[in-house]
Amino acid sequence: MNYTVVLPAAGSGKRMKADKNKLLLELADQPIFLHTLAVFERDEACTGIWLAVKQSEQAIIEAYVREAGFTKVRGYATGGKERQDSVRACLELIPACEVVLVHDAARPFIEPVVISNLVQTAYEKGAAIAAVPVKDTIKRAVDGKVLETVAREQLWTIQTPQAFRYPLLLQAARQALADAFLGTDEAMLVERLGEPVHLVESTYENIKMTTPDDLVYGKAILEKRQ
Ligand code: CTP
Ligand code: MG
Repeated sequence: MNYTVVLPAAGSGKRMKADKNKLLLELADQPIFLHTLAVFERDEACTGIWLAVKQSEQAIIEAYVREAGFTKVRGYATGGKERQDSVRACLELIPACEVVLVHDAARPFIEPVVISNLVQTAYEKGAAIAAVPVKDTIKRAVDGKVLETVAREQLWTIQTPQAFRYPLLLQAARQALADAFLGTDEAMLVERLGEPVHLVESTYENIKMTTPDDLVYGKAILEKRQ
């Protein structure tokens, strides 16, 4: 099943505490976002890559893409204030397709098999998101005092990619804008339309490069895979 991928890359990476967008930091001699792009460049089912970027960074990102010889990048949308705005800008730009995948440019370690399971499930059922079981014990607390321990069996950590039938996600994104609703992932926008969202099991390696420690973990993952 073919799909189009949208990669939000227009953040500032504040938690990484670098003096630039964390996606431009190097991991094994390549900026983080190029590792992510390479996964989709290599995936035959991916028919087009669209990036949301900051206007001020578009030239440098385009130059990296050119230099890497990637051929599937179809266009750039100008990112917005929130990640949700950046994703919506891409969704409004891309040509209609059956399945669209949204994936953080900051998650370079996504496995191809997870992508294909997501795309297939979204094609059949409308919406599918990458998830891993919660490993830690989770408690709800207020002011440092435990209120309860939450049953872990039903808890999942949600990642990207998140895959959708394109018209469904576009409708959800437009509705969220109309309602000034800000979600923390794409699935939330679809959930509020009352549409079912399905989990697809992912891997713990699919980390989001967020804080300086993640650069260390990322390097270890790359070394393990080589
Ligand atoms: N992103 C985006 N537009 C925004 C904010 C984030 O396209 N307005 C992108 C980031 O570039 C990243 C992905 O969304 O690829 C996930 O966001 P996050 O990990 O939070 O990255 P940043 O927002 O850049 O980092 P921070 O929150 O630490 O500032
Ligand atoms: Mg952020």
